[in-house]
Amino acid sequence: MKVPEFQRRKRAGKKLILVTAYDALFTRLVESAGIEAILVGDSLGMVVQGKKDTLSVTMEDMLYHTRLVAGAAERALVIADMPFLSYQVSVEEAVRNAGRLLQVGAAAVKVEGGEAVVDRVRAMTRFGIPVMGHVGMTPQSVHQYGGYKVQGKERSGAEALMADAKLLEAAGAFAVVLEAIPVDLAKQVTEALTAPTIGIGAGPHCDGQILVLYDLLGLFDEFVPRFVKPYAHLKADALQALRRYKEEVENGKFPSDEESYS
Ligand code: KIV
Repeated sequence: MKVPEFQRRKRAGKKLILVTAYDALFTRLVESAGIEAILVGDSLGMVVQGKKDTLSVTMEDMLYHTRLVAGAAERALVIADMPFLSYQVSVEEAVRNAGRLLQVGAAAVKVEGGEAVVDRVRAMTRFGIPVMGHVGMTPQSVHQYGGYKVQGKERSGAEALMADAKLLEAAGAFAVVLEAIPVDLAKQVTEALTAPTIGIGAGPHCDGQILVLYDLLGLFDEFVPRFVKPYAHLKADALQALRRYKEEVENGKFPSDEESYS
């Protein structure tokens, strides 16, 4: 899918479905399921690298994983997350780093924040780099929130979030992720924008939904927010398989004649 088609889906009233992916194998699986947009999320800091948050993810990490996903994707729109400190310092750095992500195959980038990043979003889109915004509970600000907490519950926070979403759209963002905010607020933002909203913990009224792939598959259970629905339990299946393999090697059942060359 291309960015203009992504935007048209809102007008057509057809839900946008996104997941994250970080490598070629899962990218192929995601495409086989008919999912048309993939975010190479900096959530890889937690689910792939085993860190407590996303803050240590680097541009080099994002370039590596984006190259893997974009190299495997045949149809899906590949959006690459801009990691912490790759766009905050200056507009120039933001444009250069976004451009590097496009050079390895992404078709768009995502940045966290509202008013503070509007000049970055405007500059990137002016230079032909499609940008997805991300407001609400933005994980790169976890220390400011004091944890992964729902945002926009108070009136002032809700008003600020609505203003941020409008500013992002005015600056050229082609879509906006709404993370961990009340359902009503997500509905109001979705109605106020012409750009599609993509919800994660933002209820059913958004124009699309996104989940972290390893959460959806039940592979990652160290931190499971309320909004995650595991559609499979691959961690339990993998554990069972590994235990059986260990057991069978120990008791001489594997490898059998079937798995051996005569
Ligand atoms: O990093 C990520 O995976 C994300 C999504 C969950 C929106 O930002």
